[in-house]
Amino acid sequence: MKRITFISFLLFIFIACNNKDAGNSVQNDDQAAVYLKQGDSIVKITFDTLRKTVIKAISTKGLSGALMLCNVQAKPITGMYASEGITVGRVTDKNRNPENTLSAFDQAVWEKYRDQVAKKDSLKSVLISRNNEFHYYKPIFIQPMCLNCHGTPGKEISKELLTVIDSLYPADRAKGYKAGDLRGMWHIVFTKQMAGKD
Ligand code: HEC
Repeated sequence: MKRITFISFLLFIFIACNNKDAGNSVQNDDQAAVYLKQGDSIVKITFDTLRKTVIKAISTKGLSGALMLCNVQAKPITGMYASEGITVGRVTDKNRNPENTLSAFDQAVWEKYRDQVAKKDSLKSVLISRNNEFHYYKPIFIQPMCLNCHGTPGKEISKELLTVIDSLYPADRAKGYKAGDLRGMWHIVFTKQMAGKD
């Protein structure tokens, strides 16, 4: 019995230390709900703007034109609704833009999402407290229209477009997806002091 108590104690220490390294899920439900809601609305408005811009560009400039527009505009549009103390970005394991790689910290969240996909669980936004910041993540899934630029070369991605992608992004890894695939995550960082919370 004593032995079991001791093992539980060790396990507790291990989990506690582990949590500290990886950042903590936010304990205070009310506070978490506020940031999760704010994150959800930033993602919604940013994604709407991005998608509308891409769809309009496809209809007026064709796919190559839309792709070139993404090359210049995707980052500025993604950061459009950021403000003082709030940064907005997208990260993934198979990135097109070299700036969108997963940090070691993002990696832990990404692996959890991957596990949930494997188990066919539904994926939700998460909020993690770390040092002086709250990190909000939300999964991004591939929709049929995304396949024009992220699908299989020669099938959904035309040869002509493939040439444009490869010339703009020689190290591109963001091809070969199927509809419904997990593509990446929104990552919003709220700096606590700026947001007036702790
Ligand atoms: C017209 C082509 C095009 C379409 C359609 C498109 N994308 Fe992209 N996507 C790009 C380009 C180009 C980039 C790199 C942008 C940059 O340089 O910042 C990109 C980047 C991304 C990124 C950032 C991570 C990375 O790989 O750099 C995500 C996430 C993403 N796309 C998801 C989607 C989703 C989801 C859809 C459908 C709703 C979609 N894309 C539709 C061209 C496209």
